[in-house]
Amino acid sequence: MSFWFELGFGSNPYVVKPLPSSADGRELLVGRDVELRALLRRIEEGDTHVVLEGPNGVGKTSLVAVAAWVATERFLEKKTPQLYLALPEPLQIKEDASEFISDCYFAIARAFLDNEEILKRADRKVPRTKDIKAWLESPVLKGRGFNLSSPFGGGGMAGSAAVNGSSGFSNAGFRATIRTWLRDAFPEGTGGMVGVIDNLELLETSNAARRLLEEIRDPVLQLTGMRWVLCGARGIARSVAATPRLNGVLSDPIEITPVADEYIPNLIDTRLRHYSVRPTSNAPVSAASFEHVYEVAHKNLRDSLRHAQSFSQDNESSFFLSRSESEIAEAFIKWIESLAVKHEASAKLQPRTRKLLEDLAAFGGTCSPSDFDQFGFNDRAHMRKNVVELERYGLVISSKDDDDQRRRSIEITSKGWLVHYARSQGLSAPTIPGL
Ligand SMILES: Nc1ncnc2c1ncn2[C@@H]1O[C@H](COP(=O)(O)OP(=O)(O)OP(=O)(O)O)[C@@H](O)[C@H]1O
Ligand SMILES: [Mg+2]
Repeated sequence: MSFWFELGFGSNPYVVKPLPSSADGRELLVGRDVELRALLRRIEEGDTHVVLEGPNGVGKTSLVAVAAWVATERFLEKKTPQLYLALPEPLQIKEDASEFISDCYFAIARAFLDNEEILKRADRKVPRTKDIKAWLESPVLKGRGFNLSSPFGGGGMAGSAAVNGSSGFSNAGFRATIRTWLRDAFPEGTGGMVGVIDNLELLETSNAARRLLEEIRDPVLQLTGMRWVLCGARGIARSVAATPRLNGVLSDPIEITPVADEYIPNLIDTRLRHYSVRPTSNAPVSAASFEHVYEVAHKNLRDSLRHAQSFSQDNESSFFLSRSESEIAEAFIKWIESLAVKHEASAKLQPRTRKLLEDLAAFGGTCSPSDFDQFGFNDRAHMRKNVVELERYGLVISSKDDDDQRRRSIEITSKGWLVHYARSQGLSAPTIPGL
């Protein structure tokens, strides 16, 4: 990490990982006060699980992580009798329901281990560490390589002490034990564990998401002592929440829109301050430069941070140490331009397909297959042909065709926005030196 250290930072200030559920995460979360309050209200006061809908990279996972931490703090500061604790990490949705259910139970067990001290201080009934460790280290659970038809047999071992002996390590026994731990630690109305069911859009179709959520409804969504937050992009969370069989357990979605422009300078300055270890640190991408890339990346925070990071690492630290702020800012603009031009040149698009990309950008970057007439196509099939071409170059991402008309399942990617930028700025390869 000497690169960042030479520039005066403890580590990379443009990290793209979601913010952690910690005091650091709280400090780094900027421009989300309203959403944070809305989410906390639903976690603390609602009896349905929360649904967040918003574009990729907008900050959904980070928001939940910080909200869970704030909820815990509120308990520790005696502002509420309800105790909420975050699961160790977000759970990525997967098609295999039983594998996903196992992931959930495994994460809950780990959360009991991680939070043993707080739970004890709060006078909650907690499982013995030894028991949790025994479960986590059991051969059946290790690596989450569950075998449903386990030779160990169904245990029905509801007691937390009943983990010894082979039958105690069965899948059913483990789940029953977790249910007991949760019920004991979080009797009705006293709080719970907060878990994120992340990236529902990975399931591609609303039907697949609905099917999976129905399968996990009883074993996961109905667990006493669990507050789930479901996150999704491209309309999938919104669509799932509207399912009659699920809308009793899921809240109306909170729409997460991009962090407003006015907060962006502070968002970056907060990061630069947080990661800086010297009073005079040299930031490769300053607040003003970040505002520019945030615009180019169509307000996608993750892509903007990724670009800032790549630009930093494409240069030697001596470059940043020997140039003035304005020279660095200029170099960053040139860097983005050349990246945009490179992508533009490698996408060999037919004029009709190129027009679709431009129209889609003007439309806000996302649409549904049923919007074909708005883009001048006679039917879905014609639009689809052009969408497939854009997908081939990675300029849009689209979920599998679904009969769900509400979903805006076609979206311009990071690369697509760069190509759009190159075209809208009239940039072309020969004008950029060195290409
Ligand atoms: N309010 C914020 N303030 C500062 N940084 C943020 C904020 N929100 C998100 N970030 C940063 O932006 C990036 C993207 O955030 P995050 O991973 O939470 O987005 P997401 O909506 O969950 O994305 P995806 O849909 O791909 O899962 C991360 O690097 C995160 O640290
Ligand atoms: Mg996420």
